[in-house]
Amino acid sequence: MKEAFTLTHLTKHLWINGQWKETKAYYELHAPYDQKLIAKVAKATPSHVKEAMDGAHTAASIMRAMPAFERAGILAKVALLLQDRREELAKLCATEAGKPIRAARAEIDRTVTTYQFAAEEAKRIYGETIPMDAAPGGSNRLGMTWREPLGIVVAITPFNFPFNLVAHKLGPAFAAGNTVVLKPANQTPLSALAIAELFHEAGLPAGALQVLTGSGRELSDELLRDERVRKVTFTGSPEVGKAIKAKAGLRKVTLELGSNSALIVEPDTNIPNLIERCVEGAFSYAGQVCISLQRIYVHEQVYEAFCELFITQTAKLRVGNPLEEQTDISAMIHADELERIEAWVQEAVAQGARIGYGGQRDGSTWEPTVLLNVTPDMNVSCKETFAPVVSIVKYRDLDEAIALTNNSAFGLNIGIYTNNIDRAFYAARALEAGAVIINDIPTFRLDHMPYGGVKDSGYGREGVKYAVEEMTELKFVSIRLNT
Ligand code: SIN
Repeated sequence: MKEAFTLTHLTKHLWINGQWKETKAYYELHAPYDQKLIAKVAKATPSHVKEAMDGAHTAASIMRAMPAFERAGILAKVALLLQDRREELAKLCATEAGKPIRAARAEIDRTVTTYQFAAEEAKRIYGETIPMDAAPGGSNRLGMTWREPLGIVVAITPFNFPFNLVAHKLGPAFAAGNTVVLKPANQTPLSALAIAELFHEAGLPAGALQVLTGSGRELSDELLRDERVRKVTFTGSPEVGKAIKAKAGLRKVTLELGSNSALIVEPDTNIPNLIERCVEGAFSYAGQVCISLQRIYVHEQVYEAFCELFITQTAKLRVGNPLEEQTDISAMIHADELERIEAWVQEAVAQGARIGYGGQRDGSTWEPTVLLNVTPDMNVSCKETFAPVVSIVKYRDLDEAIALTNNSAFGLNIGIYTNNIDRAFYAARALEAGAVIINDIPTFRLDHMPYGGVKDSGYGREGVKYAVEEMTELKFVSIRLNT
């Protein structure tokens, strides 16, 4: 019988070379919603890093030699195992991340899709032939490219999608024939360790996935010190992302960082039809999403109607225990984050913002909060709130809305609602972003889309096919013909 991913006083060790590895030191993991102790989790030391890297290095030659159909088979099996254990894993995610259970189930479903895409991509890592005779000296030569695995990939993942953002790193890495040393967020190690068990069950060779838990910065630094690491893929804050890039040297890096995502609402749209979606974009998982809708720019003709409907819809959201079916918004991940957002909202109000709805803390949760009269220099606008706080700002014409939107250090996803195709594409060209989402909120992602940002939002692209490109090296091979 399978062991359940239970959540009562677990002791979780490191996952090295396909086995649990005990350590001397453990930290306590508490549920964000009610602070119950849910597990004791191992703290990796430099000697564990060395052991994990040695194992990943050995497994790299096994993965490199493994045919694509076998890599695809392992990934497809993991997708099936996840499907089989959907409810159990959703509960684990809801408990350790404080994610409302319906959102946690949706995350497991997306994770299944991500691994399915990875299984498919493993079979279509193509190269091309090069017309060598296009240049003088190229006659009688054939040229081709193929993509080779890199070897060891270090993956550092955040707490907010503990299954699917891990999948966006493991899926493409294994599809391409790499090995991974994974450092999951301190707050959500159990999801990552559960996935390691499923990969083991699916037949991934020992050492191809190592999971090292423990304190953030020191462990990440130690991982980067190992010269055998060929790539670092990180999702998290711009500060940490910049530090990683500075230390990565000549190694490949993908950085998925934050944003203060904006939406432009043109006056030619049917406002009541889009309200529910906008409220969802602003408050899903308490705004702790990199593409959470943080700034809404609404044309002055429809501003009053938009605000009224938006606030009415926000008032319907239920705040509470993540394990209860009706909960829409639950805990923020840590008390420090509550304190930060409380200070930012109070500061905005002192600077002239008005609270249209919410604005209060209740235990580990923060009320869904709508701010009006917000100016671009306020922290709630120019920084990433990563909390259920949204501002609604009036504009006069599309150029002003584009300027307000682009007045940001970030550029991940941006949304625009309009029924005018010319204006939609005018905006799509002018907006500084990794993606422009027309007639939907910026909080939109399918797992095969290219996903990544410009400016402080990051470097490189995820979305399985694109991540496979970033996790392989292009090799050119030429043959000189003697005939
Ligand atoms: C993120 O927060 O970076 C990921 C958002 C998503 O995958 O929906």
